[in-house]
Amino acid sequence: KSIVVLISGSGSNLQALIDACSSGFVPGKISAVIANKANAYGLVRASEAGISTQVLSHKHHSSREAYDNALIDAIDQHQPDLVVLAGFMRILTPAFVQHYQGRLLNIHPSLLPKYQGLNTHQRAIDAGDTEHGCSVHFVTEQLDGGPVILQAKVPVFSDDDAQSLAERVHEQEHRVYPLVVRWFCQNRLQQHADKASLDGNVL
Ligand code: GRF
Repeated sequence: KSIVVLISGSGSNLQALIDACSSGFVPGKISAVIANKANAYGLVRASEAGISTQVLSHKHHSSREAYDNALIDAIDQHQPDLVVLAGFMRILTPAFVQHYQGRLLNIHPSLLPKYQGLNTHQRAIDAGDTEHGCSVHFVTEQLDGGPVILQAKVPVFSDDDAQSLAERVHEQEHRVYPLVVRWFCQNRLQQHADKASLDGNVL
């Protein structure tokens, strides 16, 4: 399977996917990594792994629609079976989401439907939650609202700050995202509108 990964930052989830592809855990190939920021460290990770990279800055586009159309063109050059959002910090247009419906995944650092949007770790601490985590989901037009495929939970400790909690969640992200991508590449995972299924069982 051909996979295109979109990033904006550090790319630690990208690294987990690179490692999972090279070990054979994921039966797929990352064909390209595309970033909206030239200084995204994940671009270095991709280059070191011999993966082709591209920077597509939103600054040269007049509207969100124009940017997303350029993004579709860039992605589709690689004929992906799967598009993976791995810390891609942009809201995507409905046209983009529809174009990749059923083959567009995201990871979000909360136990969805809790804490959609930003600053999830601080919000979990402020709410006094005793558990927190991450969710991998299919992307729909609802921001952080698409069908959840897999979640991992971590405890929240009384002396946690947003950073210590984020680190604990990140470790889990690096486990669950490769696993979901593996399932997708094994043709075991499907999206049916607002539901996801694994091996034919609705999740
Ligand atoms: C992760 O916390 C992910 O859940 C969120 O953005 C962050 C990306 O981290 N969507 P990294 O760039 O993969 O290290």
